[in-house]
Amino acid sequence: MKFFLDSAKIDEIREAYDTFGIDGITTNPNHIMNSGKPFYTVIAELAGFVKEKGIEGWEKFPISVEINPHLDDVDEMVEMGTKIAAMSSSFVIKIPCTPSGITAARKLEGKGIRTNLTLVFSPSQALIAAKNNSLFVSPFIGWKENSGEDCKEYIDNIVKIYKNYGYYGKTEIICAAVRNGKQIVDCAVSGADIVTAGLDVYKEAFYHAFTDYGLTKFRNAWDNTITD
Ligand code: E4P
Repeated sequence: MKFFLDSAKIDEIREAYDTFGIDGITTNPNHIMNSGKPFYTVIAELAGFVKEKGIEGWEKFPISVEINPHLDDVDEMVEMGTKIAAMSSSFVIKIPCTPSGITAARKLEGKGIRTNLTLVFSPSQALIAAKNNSLFVSPFIGWKENSGEDCKEYIDNIVKIYKNYGYYGKTEIICAAVRNGKQIVDCAVSGADIVTAGLDVYKEAFYHAFTDYGLTKFRNAWDNTITD
């Protein structure tokens, strides 16, 4: 399973890359706003990061960048996606799963620009993303579970549908807005390709109190053992 960091903050990205070896980045207008920097400044910074690390290219380290969410005209969406994609070969264009978004994503894929269909909340939306060759589909988990839904069946169904029609592995499933370790495990058990989450979610998910307890116990044992 691949782990993407959901963030546009370069310090968080560096920490997640160095500590956990994350495999990619997802951003959205909210994350860009939270970085406190202008849109094109932030994405230039992200482009610089992959260059510096020698991991440029969507195959090596994909960075999803969302187009202006106000756009609903297909040509304008394609134009902005093309402009962003020209800034780094790591950039994958994130587009909402609306009729215009689906059309624009298909056109971008036709030009060799990879896409991520986002704001996906049903298996049928996930199916149309794959049918139109998007590289990624982003079913949101956290939002649905926060509102009382259990997403295990939701992800199971997307994986099953993709396997039924040969889309599995071609359009990779990014379980998005993941909030905790249980959701990571549920997505992994279902066979989703990727999860994307914030740095704090990963820190909490990869921590266990027994690890600290055991370490203290073993340190005490070490200190009471002749080691020469
Ligand atoms: C995923 O690709 C989105 O960027 C993200 O998970 C959106 O949700 P959040 O900002 O509520 O986590």
